[in-house]
Order: sequence, then C-alpha cells, then structure tokens
Amino acid sequence: TAGAAGAAGLVTGAAGITAAVSEDGSANGSGAPGALTSVGATAVAFHGRHQSGITTPLQSRGHLVAFDLAPGAGRKEAAALLRRWSATARTLMAGGAPAEDTDVARDAGPSSLTVTFGFGRTFFDRTGLAARRPSQLDPLPAFSSDALDPKRSEGDLWVQVGADDSLVAFHALRALQKDAGGAARVRWQMNGFNRSAGATARPMTSRNLMGQVDGTNNPRPSDPDFDRRVFVPEGASGPQAWMAGGSYAVVRRIRMLLDDWEGLSREKQERVIGRRKSDGAPLTGDTETTPLKLDERGPDGKPVIPVNAHARISAPEQNAGAAMLRRPFSFHDGIGADGVPDAGLLFVCWQADPLRGFVPVQRKLDRGDALSPFIRHEASGLFAVPGGAAEGEYVGQRLLE
Ligand code: HEM
Repeated sequence: TAGAAGAAGLVTGAAGITAAVSEDGSANGSGAPGALTSVGATAVAFHGRHQSGITTPLQSRGHLVAFDLAPGAGRKEAAALLRRWSATARTLMAGGAPAEDTDVARDAGPSSLTVTFGFGRTFFDRTGLAARRPSQLDPLPAFSSDALDPKRSEGDLWVQVGADDSLVAFHALRALQKDAGGAARVRWQMNGFNRSAGATARPMTSRNLMGQVDGTNNPRPSDPDFDRRVFVPEGASGPQAWMAGGSYAVVRRIRMLLDDWEGLSREKQERVIGRRKSDGAPLTGDTETTPLKLDERGPDGKPVIPVNAHARISAPEQNAGAAMLRRPFSFHDGIGADGVPDAGLLFVCWQADPLRGFVPVQRKLDRGDALSPFIRHEASGLFAVPGGAAEGEYVGQRLLE
C-alpha cells in the first residue's frame, strides 16, 4: 500500500523534501520511537517562494483559527508575534519540538504539517499600516444567500494548520496559541478533516460530506496559467508590493443541509452537480478528468448537464476565466441547535485576486445554482497570505519590518 511503501528508506514528501526513515521505523535508527510510515515521515518545507498549505496536497486534519490583536498591541507586537510564529512553524514542520513542549506529538514525525499565516482587513488599521492594505482586501460583497455570523467571520490574523495526524495538528495549534501570548486572542476556531492518506487503494480526489468527488477541476500547478491565477506576481507594485508570491484566501464555513440532500435520489443528486457520484465523471461521460461537454443535449433535447448544475455555473469558461484553487476541509461539529447535523465544508479557496476568483463565481452561484438549496454560508473571511519566508526571514517581514 502507499502507506507501507515508505516504511524503510527514503521518503519523498509533498514538497519534494526527503526524510530518512530507518528499518526500525525510528527517525535515526536508534530504536527510539519515530514515525512508522511515509505518512508520518513526510516533511513540507517552511521556507520557499510561497507559504506551505496552498499547493500542498490536502491533509487529513485541519484547523482554521483567526486571532485579533489584543487592545494596545500594534505593529511592533505584531512583528514580534509573526517572528515567534514563524520560528515555531519552522521547527514543528521539520519534526522538532518547541521549548517547554507539551509532548502531544512526541512519537510522531512531521506528518506533512503545514502552517499558513494571513492578514485580515482590520489588521492594517490596528497596526498603522492602512496605506499598505491592498484593495484586494476590500470587503467581499454581500450575497443574497449569506447567513453569516460576524463572530465567526474575518479577524486581524488567520492561521491555517494542516497535518496528516490529528495529534500533530493539535500540537502545532496549541504551540501557536501559546506564542500569541498577550499580543493576540483567538477570535474563532474551526476544525476540519479530509480522508486519511492511504485509506483508498489508489490516489483519488477527496470526497465531501455530500459524497461527491470534490476538487476534480481545480487548476493544477502544471497548468501554464496556474501561477497567474493563484499567486500575486513577483514585482507587484503599490500597496501590495509586499504580497509578491502571496495569495488571497477566501474562507467560508458552508453548512450542508444533509437531511434534505440525502432525501434526493442519486440521479437528482448527480444532476445538481452535473457529475456522477461514483467516480466524479461528467454526466456527458468518460472519466473524472474528461472535460464537461456543456453543449451536449439528450434525447429530450435538453442539455445533459443541466443549465443550473453547479459544475456548469462555476466553470471558468462560464465566468470570463475566473478560477480559484479550492482546498477545503470537511467539518462536523455534532448536532446543531436546529436538531440537524452541524456539518459541511470549510471552503478555502486561493487566488491572486478575489475579484477574478471567488467573487464573480459566487455571484453567479448565488443567483441560484442547483446546489444552493442544500447549503448555507454561515461564516466568511478574506485574508492576505504573503509569500513564503526566505531563509533568515519571518512570514510577513516585508510588511512589518
Ligand atoms: C466544482 C461541490 C461550493 C466553486 C465542484 C464540484 C463539486 C463541488 C462536487 C465538481 C467537482 C470538481 O470539479 O471539484 C461543492 C460543494 C460546495 C461548493 C459541496 C459547498 C458546500 C462552491 C463555492 C464555490 C465553488 C462556494 C465558489 C464560489 C467551484 C468551482 C468548481 C466547482 C470553480 C469547478 C468547476 C469546473 O471548472 O468544472 N464543486 N462546491 N464551489 N466548484 Fe463547488
């Protein structure tokens, strides 16, 4: 299996990093406990042109946390916090432990841990940096179907933690919360998950809690226009010069109305998206990766992929090329006050400019695609996620120094 393949020898991680795992499964051959499989041993690089957790393959566990700066904390405190956070992220992502460790992740390898930092719109006023706030952080428009809870939306700072082990993810989250000290307080936290690495026989696009294959038609790093769509270009000027190599994250907590959804026949469910549930292939046929034939009509003369199918309405060719990289986690917080599962998608999408990604697509979906009756947007955030830190640098230094 994929999991056992790396039990001995060199394991290549998501970012092309190799980690040594010896025959006894320890990190150093000492017999001391270590990561047993490639899942545990995989490390993602902290330093680089982009931060981790954007193009990193989906991990099985994720935490999204927003912080607000404490009253009285300004640019100096924020810079010191980002410096502490970066040092902690770098240590933990390499499989190390912070000072005064809690031991929660003691027996585990880095498990593809990623930590991603972003700045919200309100951060810039509190730190006297309003002149350097990019217009890309202008508030998202209100959508007719929004049911947003302001207490679980936005925030001065945003941290995304992802890992292929729940204890590793919690360990990192706790260390970052402690680093915040008196400088920032948690505003909201959301916990999510995806399938565990190795759970399926072959690598496969993940499924969401509606049972759909989700993520098929994402832009791929090998696409010629991938960088232009997802990352702010090097040499960006004006208020977003410090964002070169960065990306804008739109975060939406989207509740799924699962009782209603599960009451639909499979055929109706498939028409809602325009793709088969079994393998994610378009209703116009072939395999998961075959392009949708949006013009094809059935014997009844109607389009095979319905006019309001989610995949039709959100397709870049229907939106003047608007595209985003969707990298979500599922969530399940038990039964809500309304008596039905409080479950759905922590929708996180990445783009060089929200006005050429999330906004136009959501505007169209909001006019009533076939999926809209089965979901509810409950919280929202927009964050500027700067480029990755070079050696010796901390994340956000180009803004805060
Ligand atoms: C495609 C599910 C919300 C944008 C898809 C697909 C599924 C899906 C199953 C087809 C497979 C794929 O290409 O990934 C969902 C669910 C949602 C949700 C369950 C909410 C709970 C959104 C939102 C947006 C969005 C809020 C953006 C505003 C897209 C895009 C595609 C897509 C751009 C690819 C279309 C294409 O190029 O073929 N979604 N989606 N989705 N979705 Fe969603």
